[in-house]
Amino acid sequence: MELSVIKEGKALLYIPDTRSVALKQGIIEPTHLPVFYNPVMTFNRDLSVVVLDAFIKKYLGNKEAVVLDLLAATGIRGIRYAMEVDGVSKVIINDGDKDSYGLMRKNVKLNDLENVVAYNRDANSLMRSLKFECRELLNIVDLDPFGSVMPFIHTALSISTKGTMLAVTATDLAVLGGSKLAAAKRRYQASLIKNRHYRETSIRVLLAYIARIAASYDKVITPLVSYSADHYLRLYLLVGRGARKADKMIEENIGYFAYENGMVLYDKNGKLGPLWTGKIMDEGFLREVLDRLVSKYQYLETYKRSQHLLDMLIQESSLQTYFHQRVDTICKHQHKSMPRMDKLIEKINELNYRATRSTFSATGFRTDAPSDLIVRLCKESLG
Ligand SMILES: C[S@@+](CC[C@H](N)C(=O)[O-])C[C@H]1O[C@@H](n2cnc3c(N)ncnc32)[C@H](O)[C@@H]1O
Repeated sequence: MELSVIKEGKALLYIPDTRSVALKQGIIEPTHLPVFYNPVMTFNRDLSVVVLDAFIKKYLGNKEAVVLDLLAATGIRGIRYAMEVDGVSKVIINDGDKDSYGLMRKNVKLNDLENVVAYNRDANSLMRSLKFECRELLNIVDLDPFGSVMPFIHTALSISTKGTMLAVTATDLAVLGGSKLAAAKRRYQASLIKNRHYRETSIRVLLAYIARIAASYDKVITPLVSYSADHYLRLYLLVGRGARKADKMIEENIGYFAYENGMVLYDKNGKLGPLWTGKIMDEGFLREVLDRLVSKYQYLETYKRSQHLLDMLIQESSLQTYFHQRVDTICKHQHKSMPRMDKLIEKINELNYRATRSTFSATGFRTDAPSDLIVRLCKESLG
């Protein structure tokens, strides 16, 4: 394999030489590389570095963390955690692919790291043996699969203990978001319809799925950060324990939704879902992530983008349990032209309801105003 060296964050990295690889519409298709590396995911990895740093500071205090980067490819994620996150004592990186394993070992050497251990194992069997044979206490488990996280999430939850943080990437948004209905039923036991709110739908459908699996192990999840960007969604979940807590989590956070007048509305007796209706992020924790970003991580390539996303998430977190609505979809439904977003938000505020833009769509907003009021405002077309 021909290699080139790049730098991402503070890590140097051998990646497969991309000159020999077929381009798809002028862009390198990362899955065609002999070892997977996607530069678009630098944003995901940059933010992960900051979230892990904030998590260790807030939840582990003076204790050092052991991190598992389960599906590591070049090893970039785990290597960056070892180099850029405070309080990491050990990182375990793993990939079932032989070429990936060879390359990740080269990358560990290249960065002269003694606290990163590489494995070449099937992901699920490695998780089990780390827990039951090696008695390794994993503080953070990062799952960054091709497509769906479904093949790994059962084992990850079964080996997690109180206080473990699970970081999850999923790129099967078409399935989770409602574009592939049969697959959503098959893979996540979710009944969906096609909808234009797929980024939030994906997150809430996946959270409901993960929560139900967690509950089956008498465990609970608390979402710390959830967002969607580019072609993926990313969740950071704090795992807890307790059968009663699991019952309560399911009772209070799993529901259904309906699609009415171009809006997504929760509906206890609805047929669409199940989805997670509770909080998808922790505002206090988001503020700590932003603090860490600003105080320690200004060198990141995606610093500005990360700061913008965190600012927006904090802004919308006080209305996070209201599903985001799309002004274009509501207006289209009413055969009306679209008002300007800032005008609509201003009008809702004047009527003593809260409203804010949403990260999930350029035309998205969250509000606690009743749906008939939103429809009326769009009908009056403020534009
Ligand atoms: C999307 S890539 C990981 C990207 C990497 N985390 C990064 O940030 O660049 C997914 C990786 O999972 C590996 N993989 C897929 N199924 C696996 C399994 N059952 N056990 C171990 N590795 C697996 C693939 O070989 C591939 O390298």
